[in-house]
Amino acid sequence: MKGAVLARLVTAAALAPSGHNTQPWRFLVEGERITILPDPSRRLPVVDPDDHALYISLGCAVENLVVAARGEGYHAEVDDTGLDGEDPSLTVHLQAGGTGGGHGNGLHSAISQRQSTRRSYDGRAIPVGDLGRLEGASRQEGVGFHLFTDPGRIEPLIELVEEGNRRQFSDPAFVDELIRWIRFNPGEVRKRQDGLTHAAMGLPSIPRWLGRFIMGKLVTPGSQARSAARAIRSSAALMLFSTDRPDPRGWVSLGRSFERVALTATTLDIRHAHMNMPCEVPALREELRRHLELGAAHPLLLLRIGYAQPMPRSPRRPLEEVVVEGSR
Ligand SMILES: Cc1cc2nc3c(=O)[nH]c(=O)nc-3n(C[C@H](O)[C@H](O)[C@H](O)COP(=O)(O)O)c2cc1C
Repeated sequence: MKGAVLARLVTAAALAPSGHNTQPWRFLVEGERITILPDPSRRLPVVDPDDHALYISLGCAVENLVVAARGEGYHAEVDDTGLDGEDPSLTVHLQAGGTGGGHGNGLHSAISQRQSTRRSYDGRAIPVGDLGRLEGASRQEGVGFHLFTDPGRIEPLIELVEEGNRRQFSDPAFVDELIRWIRFNPGEVRKRQDGLTHAAMGLPSIPRWLGRFIMGKLVTPGSQARSAARAIRSSAALMLFSTDRPDPRGWVSLGRSFERVALTATTLDIRHAHMNMPCEVPALREELRRHLELGAAHPLLLLRIGYAQPMPRSPRRPLEEVVVEGSR
């Protein structure tokens, strides 16, 4: 396979979303085989102590890789048996002559267009047919997908999001970790090419010392909770993803399902933004599970969707930083 194709495929995989834009992946390229490995130096020990968000992000990357490979005319097969080992990994086997059909075709061009859009949405409802397409895109064994459009069902979820915000922003370790991944000005963005940029969050460029001061003194648990509630009320719907198995295999499956939904939404001009707070605080996750009567399923991603203008894009690190050639 040509180097240029491999480079395009890895670029597509690395455009996947990841918690705090940590980009917690490395790609081992060996002939017609690309192995995706977690990068433990990019873990988020406070907000994601069990690494579920890290593996969801790897699932998003693998889905992008598969979609891009099919779009380039390759057959792509995912081997996830490596997830059971001591050093979990996922391998994608590529073979020329794929159909270019299935999920791959329409979604390929959405990979570079998809973004997390953190701003107020315009309140318009999503046509039922388009909600049906999101539901169709979500289907993945062991993954549950739930859409909420009725304000009566959304309001109790807003309360859990608000409570999640209050608890997280009352925890100095959470705020510290978040500040470490915020890029407060263009100089920081250029240097790191990762993290949550001021522009993607709709904030002005400021020096780090001022950012620290604002995050420590002016961003309060109450102000965060109120702005999350307003953001949800401006949206058309909430969507929730759950998994039957709380392990790397289940988390990767959930990530693949989420990424397909996110790409499908992008083709329909539907935007998305994470409202994960109640999934991240274990006691609230349990409350969410009980409230929605999810049985043994683990609710791990909550997002709002709707219509809005795009925001500036989040950066990605250059390929040289994420590709490991030949040996691990
Ligand atoms: C597992 C996972 C968890 C995330 N959690 C949050 C979150 O709690 N809040 C948020 O604003 N964004 C969240 N995001 C979105 C990321 O911050 C976003 O994907 C990253 O900054 C890259 O930006 P992009 O999606 O626009 O490419 C999450 C993404 C993933 C994959």
